[in-house]
Amino acid sequence: MRKKKLAAILLISFTLPGASSALFAANNSQNNIQEARKIVKQYASTLKHELKSALKEKGPVLAVESCHLKAPDITDNISQSSGWQVRRTSLKVRNLEDAPDKWENSVLRKFEKMNTEGIPVNKIEFSEVVTKKDGNKEFRYMKAIPTKKVCLQCHGSNIKSKVASQLDSLYPFDRAVGFKVNDLRGAFSLSKPIK
Ligand code: HEC
Repeated sequence: MRKKKLAAILLISFTLPGASSALFAANNSQNNIQEARKIVKQYASTLKHELKSALKEKGPVLAVESCHLKAPDITDNISQSSGWQVRRTSLKVRNLEDAPDKWENSVLRKFEKMNTEGIPVNKIEFSEVVTKKDGNKEFRYMKAIPTKKVCLQCHGSNIKSKVASQLDSLYPFDRAVGFKVNDLRGAFSLSKPIK
């Protein structure tokens, strides 16, 4: 009887550390995913609000300028307030600063493939713990951005000539055109160092 109890205790103490750390890791990334999703929601709604009011008050030509001026600020602000590195990226960028790094590029290709296989863009996300060149680890998260009808006036195929020339002057290397509704426009990309 006593022997059995001791064996049981030993078993628990041997299996617990491994089990609990695995659980902790799982919980930890689950928390990171939840947090990343929340930040994306806030970031997306700020951008959307800004875009909507610029379009309504100024029309698409001046809204281009306002997006040019405000999108980078909104991005910096959300990075600072959240403590995460937050950005937008795409396989076809307008602002060269948004060009994807290697990891983002491969995730965007995965997203593109999932979309062609029939998964709707607004359902696509991915996260991973990545080890950087210096050996430090970071948690990385991406969420796909769908193309909506309102986006087409600046990212579609029939862009009004005044809007197009405004885009040309601000972004001579613009590749973010020719999208259709429900296409993968790009993705939100978030990262955070983990200890
Ligand atoms: C009024 C014109 C306009 C409309 C409408 C518009 N965009 Fe943009 N978009 C821009 C400009 C200008 C930039 C570059 C901003 C910068 O310089 O950081 C941009 C950049 C982006 C980027 C960052 C990646 C890149 O290409 O540099 C994404 C993603 C994006 N837009 C998605 C959308 C989506 C989704 C919609 C519709 C909900 C939309 N845009 C509607 C003008 C517009």
